[in-house]
Amino acid sequence: MDEKRREISNKIEELLKKSREKGLTDQDIQKQAGSLLKLQRKWSWRAWKRYCSILLILFFIIYALSHIEFIKRSYYWAAKTIFIYTVQYNGWSSFYMDECLIPNPFHEIRTLTNEDCELCENIKLIPRLSNISSALVAENFLKQDRPLIVTDAVDNTWPAVSLYNINFLRQIFEKEEELKSAPPCMYASNVRMKRGNLPKLLELASNNHITNWYAHWENCDKQAAKKLRTFYQRPYFMPSMVEGGETNWLLISSRYTTAKFKPADINLPMVWIAQLKGENKFRLTPREPCNSTCSPIYTTLKPKELLVLTDLMWILDYMPIGSEESVAIGSGGYFD
Ligand SMILES: *[C@@H]1O[C@H](CO)[C@@H](O)[C@H](O)[C@H]1NC(C)=O
Ligand SMILES: *[C@@H]1O[C@H](CO)[C@@H](O)[C@H](O)[C@H]1NC(C)=O
Repeated sequence: MDEKRREISNKIEELLKKSREKGLTDQDIQKQAGSLLKLQRKWSWRAWKRYCSILLILFFIIYALSHIEFIKRSYYWAAKTIFIYTVQYNGWSSFYMDECLIPNPFHEIRTLTNEDCELCENIKLIPRLSNISSALVAENFLKQDRPLIVTDAVDNTWPAVSLYNINFLRQIFEKEEELKSAPPCMYASNVRMKRGNLPKLLELASNNHITNWYAHWENCDKQAAKKLRTFYQRPYFMPSMVEGGETNWLLISSRYTTAKFKPADINLPMVWIAQLKGENKFRLTPREPCNSTCSPIYTTLKPKELLVLTDLMWILDYMPIGSEESVAIGSGGYFD
């Protein structure tokens, strides 16, 4: 770089020397150079405008393409690759092996050890609490892998409370484009439905063509999950370091009796389930190795109660109970 600069400056000096030899005065040279500089300024202004418009167009193309899932992924990949290469030059390569740039007190890759089992060995009941601070939820429950039930999280600020019943669900799954066209990614039921055809299932249910049935499913489609998110709120006690999960689950049933628990496989580090209508019985089974020292815990959620637990310690199952319709919604979050 420096060499090239020196070369250019030498050339200019040479030119200057030659001009003087030819009898040009310094003033003449300045005048000539002036018109040349003006020309250059004009050119660069035009070029600058052109570059800007090209950049703008490029930016919009890149932005528009980012709506396509696999292209978005390749952007992430490219950004990550560029980042990894540049940190090497900036001497930040120590970050390469790090999970996070800024450590989060909640974020640790954890596995359950025998020591952890002391956390659950004396839990017989899940406490029911209200007006609880997020600090308390974080310290006393999430960090301790202790479940809790919050009785005032589902309130009238949740449109879901007054709206969710089988009939209402049928209406939104029939009318809303986002819900109608998105098959669930996980569907379990005693009613067999081709490709988890939810509008059909809800239609049969609300017309009483099926009775004694249950179904639960995960709304993985982004638009569908987003639509359903408009019917509930992020639980008020959720600590700010819990990032809400994008997908959500619906657990619905009507007069279904069974002796068998159904896995509620909400695959997120932190899980919550809100009972909107009717009741469900839940079972929290400790994972290995804690299943040898800790016993499963059972609880029944009444309307407007919200169960919170961590996936690390507990396997969640549920059993539809009661003689009426039951509707529950679930979601969760990540610790980061
Ligand atoms: C909730 O808790 C806060 C602080 O702990 C207290 O100031 C407030 O009065 C409580 N609200 C209710 C309705 O109990
Ligand atoms: C604990 O869980 C593991 C895996 O599911 C199982 O193989 C084992 O038998 C369980 N132990 C007890 C005491 O239930």
